Amino acid sequence: DDLESLADEIRSADTVVAFTGAGISAPSGVPTFRGDDGVWEKFDEGQFTYGRFRSDPEGFWDDRVDLQRELFAEEYQPNAAHDALAAIGRDGHLEAILTQNTDGLHAKAADETAAGPSENGDETGDDRTDEAAEANAETAADDTTLLELHGNARRVRCTDCGRRRDADPIFDRAAEGELPPTCDCGGVFKPDVVLFGEQLPGAVIQRARSLARESDVFLAIGSSLVVEPAASLPRQAASTGATVGIVNLESTPVDDAADVVRREDVTEVLPRLRELLETP
Ligand code: OAD
Repeated sequence: DDLESLADEIRSADTVVAFTGAGISAPSGVPTFRGDDGVWEKFDEGQFTYGRFRSDPEGFWDDRVDLQRELFAEEYQPNAAHDALAAIGRDGHLEAILTQNTDGLHAKAADETAAGPSENGDETGDDRTDEAAEANAETAADDTTLLELHGNARRVRCTDCGRRRDADPIFDRAAEGELPPTCDCGGVFKPDVVLFGEQLPGAVIQRARSLARESDVFLAIGSSLVVEPAASLPRQAASTGATVGIVNLESTPVDDAADVVRREDVTEVLPRLRELLETP
């Protein structure tokens, strides 16, 4: 079937890139943004923009505490799809995982399934965008590069000195009335994620685009593919000759550009794909 042919393509490919969205974490209990139980059904997207953070940090943080509690009501664990992807990477089939998710579950899955120290990202440089790229790009314990395109919601970052902190205690302070919470240096903390209306760090987006262009196989997994750069990366990969696979419960606006579309649960498809890769 088409999953077998996808496995064949992956086996013979030089560069395989996986691109993931909220759907890969849904089976772990993390709410998605869109769809029936989506976060944006309960919360107003417009309250979490970068513009509001700048003009009304107090109100932004007040609302953000509620959103954070909704998103991270519990300690989430990687599921069979994260684990399968980490294993496919460990077996040497995966160049990079690009994720829109801010839950840190890909890193957790890689840590749990691989031994050995994690390396730092290989981006270096002095200007701000490179610095940001380095912060967002982590190299997992295997050879798979992990790019967290939208940052990591388990951290906050000082908008003045740039220091990063664990999010939990800072959100606790905000919940207790420190609005907005501030760093020792006096700077205002911001969730270490890309907000609506905020630019993705240039170096991060460039790296994602060049990985998409270089890829021989591009897999979009658990994303509605409606937000940039999600909407354009699979098309970019397709236009430079990649085989594009989409795994998502709902149809996406990019399905027409894909070679293989599976409207199935990620926890079914990815472990099966891994099995096929193991048994030629
Ligand atoms: P969405 O919530 O837009 O889409 C998640 C998709 O996953 C939906 O199309 C579901 O059908 C699908 N899905 C859910 N459970 C699934 C399962 N078990 N197996 C397969 N598919 C499943 O999430 P994203 O595409 O990640 O941005 O959203 C993109 C960005 O928009 C997010 O990163 C966030 C949001 O606003 C920022 O926070 C900057």
